[in-house]
Amino acid sequence: MKTVSLTPLNRSTAINTNERVLDVLLAEQLNVMTFCKGRGLCATCHVYVEEGADSLTPPTQREQRTLGRLSQCKPNSRLACQARVRGEGIQIRVPEGMYIDQVSDLYSLLGKRADADIRHPISGDLLVPKGKIILRAFLDKLKDVDVELAAFKASDA
Ligand code: FES
Repeated sequence: MKTVSLTPLNRSTAINTNERVLDVLLAEQLNVMTFCKGRGLCATCHVYVEEGADSLTPPTQREQRTLGRLSQCKPNSRLACQARVRGEGIQIRVPEGMYIDQVSDLYSLLGKRADADIRHPISGDLLVPKGKIILRAFLDKLKDVDVELAAFKASDA
């Protein structure tokens, strides 16, 4: 067993050696979308490793490629579904904000302010900044995103 800390939640989770960082997030009931179903192709399980990067398996080429196109990527970025826990001292920070499955989901929020940054599930791009009032004209401009996300899902079938 190994222990992984989550900041800023201030929680530690015991996990079997070689389990994924994603398993820690799920054990803590953090509602991780896993848009690509854990294949290392999306932004929705992106985390920052604050401490203990050497206690994780190194990033694969696929993970490096995906991280390379994420808008929030930093040198300590990892994909939680790809990083496996090998040692102690790991501290993970989950980026703020939320991802959407499809832009049309946001129509139920028309006229309301976004509670958090709303991000693209593949690129991590900011679609709606926290505090912005969600207007129909704005969402209409994002229609291509739904097409792109549908194509991604279809390629998975
Ligand atoms: S769930 Fe998509 S990269 Fe991890």
